[in-house]
Amino acid sequence: MSIKVLVVDDVIETCNNISKLLSFDEEIEVIGSAYNGKEALNFLEKSRPDIILMDINMPVMDGIEASEKISVRYPEISIIMITVQGELEYIKKAMVAGARDYLVKPFTADQLVSSVKKIHQLDSRKNKKKTPGPTAKPKVITIYSPKGGIGTTTIAVNLAVMMHQLTEKKVVLLDLDLQSSDIGVMLDLKLNKTINNVIQNIGYLDADLLNEYLYKHNSGIDVLLAPPEPQYADLVTPEYVESIIKVLKQLYDYIIIDTSCILNTFNIDMMNMSDEILLILALELTTVRRIKKVLEILNEFGISGSIRYVLNRSSDEIGLNRREVEKHLGIKIDNHISSNGKVTVSALNKGTPFVISNHTAKISDDIKKLALNCAEELPEKRKRSLFSF
Ligand SMILES: Nc1ncnc2c1ncn2[C@@H]1O[C@H](COP(=O)(O)OP(=O)(O)O)[C@@H](O)[C@H]1O
Ligand SMILES: [Mg+2]
Repeated sequence: MSIKVLVVDDVIETCNNISKLLSFDEEIEVIGSAYNGKEALNFLEKSRPDIILMDINMPVMDGIEASEKISVRYPEISIIMITVQGELEYIKKAMVAGARDYLVKPFTADQLVSSVKKIHQLDSRKNKKKTPGPTAKPKVITIYSPKGGIGTTTIAVNLAVMMHQLTEKKVVLLDLDLQSSDIGVMLDLKLNKTINNVIQNIGYLDADLLNEYLYKHNSGIDVLLAPPEPQYADLVTPEYVESIIKVLKQLYDYIIIDTSCILNTFNIDMMNMSDEILLILALELTTVRRIKKVLEILNEFGISGSIRYVLNRSSDEIGLNRREVEKHLGIKIDNHISSNGKVTVSALNKGTPFVISNHTAKISDDIKKLALNCAEELPEKRKRSLFSF
């Protein structure tokens, strides 16, 4: 079978020349050309090449943006960038975006053909590698609160561990608080493997790659950490996360996502990808106001995951009246986590989740109830009545 190639370059002559050079090789077949990244994406809706030869600078959509999108949507396609000398600084960006090789203009027919053949050979081996079969019904649970310091990460970590303890199923915790991640500290993990390593190698994304960068925590859960420094946060796009989750779904029963409190498109996208959203609230006015806003936005976006309302520090004496809050928001609080500063702080300092170090405390029991609820199949009724407020 021949190697199918798509040529993408805004200069028609370049497309023609490359096609001509490749036409002399019997093993290679040029199946089309496109004049910018957008046209290339349109082409892929109809036909799939094995290799794309992609120019970097193009109008409408450049080669880097197109490569990012293609490597996420069609990871089986290999991209080789075509560049001129002055653009070498873009090459690094292109490789991060998922390109596999690059050719600097002017190149010879030999260089062109050997790059196409080499990458095709390497990647067809990769594509043939067996990926494990999907788990019966993986569930993605995003934990979010529009207010910081409310207990989102505390609940995410303890819930993940408890879900594994209760169900003995495979659980992965994804730290997507990209600006100020805390999970590494809460689980006493060293920060040298993070989601950034996965993104740098996104072109090779599969179960093996993820396994290299996932921590195996001694509680039995696996953890993918957030970038080490906030300036790397922009590299973690929702599209990359979506493709990472797709692979995680083949490996885990429960994918639990910790988020930042910012109400941005990234977090909305995470909620959109989830089967269940845990909204963490407290009985205080600013949180309640923000929760109202979140619900409006989720409604606007037509987010279809099921929402579970979790009241943290429910035993605190001070605060608003719970029933009034429920009435004001048009919701019913599903789970309560009691307040226990002593247990949470000592767990934090030890780097051990309290469901392990203080498993008999009331707060651990509350997490257990939450875990049992989250492990249940979602009733259809619940899914549909989501936005009845
Ligand atoms: N139920 C609780 N009772 C007492 N303290 C809590 C409780 N939940 C969280 N905390 C404490 O609140 C602080 C913020 O928690 P954290 O999980 O980091 O919040 P977030 O992720 O929402 O910013 C931590 O010091 C944590 O120990
Ligand atoms: Mg947090």
